[in-house]
Parts: sequence; C-alpha cells; structure tokens
Amino acid sequence: MKFSIHSLSFLLVFGYLFSSSAPAADAKAGEKKSEVCLGCHGQNGNSNSVQWPKLAGQQTTYLEVQLHAFKSGHRSNTMMQAIAANLSDDDISDLAAYYSSQKPSSAGADAVIAKAGQPKASMCLGCHGIQGEGKGQFPKLAGQHPDYLAAQLSSFKNGSRKSGPMQAVASGLSEADIKEISAYFGSL
Ligand code: HEC
Ligand code: HEC
Repeated sequence: MKFSIHSLSFLLVFGYLFSSSAPAADAKAGEKKSEVCLGCHGQNGNSNSVQWPKLAGQQTTYLEVQLHAFKSGHRSNTMMQAIAANLSDDDISDLAAYYSSQKPSSAGADAVIAKAGQPKASMCLGCHGIQGEGKGQFPKLAGQHPDYLAAQLSSFKNGSRKSGPMQAVASGLSEADIKEISAYFGSL
C-alpha cells in the first residue's frame, strides 16, 4: 500500500482551513434545514435504505468537507450536486452540526462475511479509528450501510471518487476484500 505524503498533507491543510474559517454552527437551525434531506437520509439521518448513506453521528468536519465537495463538483453525484448547489456556507455548517449530533443506529451486516472482514479492516483503523468512529475529516464507517461503503470503495478504486489516500488504499483491495471489510464496518 502506498500513500502520497503530498495528497495527505494537502488534505490536512484543506481540513484545517474549513474548520478554522467555518462560521459558528447552529444545530437547531440545521434541524430545520434538514427537512429537504429527510426523504432520502431518513429520520435524524438514520437512513434505512442502502442507496442513501446514514449521516447520524458522522464527523462534523467530514460532513462539511463533503457538502462543499458536492457543491464545487469535486465529488460528483447528480442528486447531491443539485441539493448542495443551493446550500450556503452557513447552511452547510448548520446541517453538519445537526447530523453529527444525532444518535446513530447500526445498519448491521451478515455475521459470517463481517467476521472474514475483521482482520482485513485493521489497516483502516489508523485513519478511521479503532472502532471505525472516524475523526475530523476521516469519516466514521461504523454502522454505515455495507452496500454504500462497498460502492464508495469501488468508486475510489475506479477513480470516479477522488481522494489521494483512499484511491491508493482502494486500489489494493479485491472485490472480496471490499465486500468483507464493508460488512465488518457496517456490523459495528
Ligand atoms: C434525492 C435523495 C437525496 C436527498 C434529498 C439528499 N441526499 Fe445526500 N446523498 C444522497 C445520495 C444518493 C448520496 C450518496 C452519493 C454517492 O454515492 O456518492 C448522498 C450523500 C450525502 C453525503 C455524503 C455522506 C458520506 O458518508 O460521504 C452527505 C454529507 C449528504 N448526502 C448530505 C445531505 C444533506 C445535508 C441533504 C439535505 C440538505 C441531503 N443530503 C439530501 C441522496 C440525497
Ligand atoms: C491514510 C488514511 C486512510 C486510510 C489508511 C484509510 N482511509 Fe478511508 N478515508 C480516508 C479519508 C481522508 C477519507 C475521506 C475522503 C474524502 O474526503 O472524500 C476516507 C473515506 C473513506 C470512505 C468513504 C466513506 C463515506 O462515508 O463515504 C470509505 C468507505 C473508506 N474511507 C474506507 C476505508 C477502508 C475500508 C480502509 C481500509 C482498507 C480505509 N478507508 C483506509 C483516509 C483513510
């Protein structure tokens, strides 16, 4: 596995800029603004559909970075780009404050497949946290829908989702690794 130091330090600086220049976030205002997100991301951000990621309990900085990335087109998804285009910087920080403060529920996963993924997932914990809880710009993976995690890993692998560290990590994973590791994190 190879990481580019440049892309990693770029990410850290990038994350720092966002967190230091963010306006004071208001989770209560975020709750009101989240009405347009409900239909897909579910009550309190605990989506029940594998198509739509859970947002509840996700890291604040990560949520902000992703919403800015959809808005700028750095991360592409037709639905989310259309939504993010209408969000101001204040909306983004309020929504991130709201969703990160919500109690997450675990998606769960097939126990046998998850067990196969556990040893393979150890290489992810240095960035994503010992329990997959995430930190700052490193997303929480614990309890996320396995199919969503697998889809993102495939997008990093084929380059349709850009991220220096994750493209390097995902390029070394087989289809079986992706399935098993995603089940492991989803089961937490
Ligand atoms: C029409 C359905 C839909 C609506 C409405 C919607 N989203 Fe999404 N959202 C998605 C889909 C689909 C994805 C996954 C995109 C991908 O595969 O890259 C996503 C991804 C995200 C992500 C990235 C999550 C991650 O783990 O990387 C964030 C953050 C997000 N949405 C926030 C919001 C917010 C905030 C709103 C309301 C202002 C909203 N979404 C409304 C469908 C929707
Ligand atoms: C060097 C640090 C690092 C390592 C190691 C790492 N990741 Fe990541 N991961 C990141 C960063 C940073 C992001 C956010 C990328 C972005 O901003 O789009 C991320 C994003 C992700 C996402 C997208 C989550 C979402 O909600 O959309 C998944 C899935 C993921 N990583 C899985 C893994 C798995 C599985 C491993 C181990 C095989 C792993 N990562 C190892 C840094 C790392």
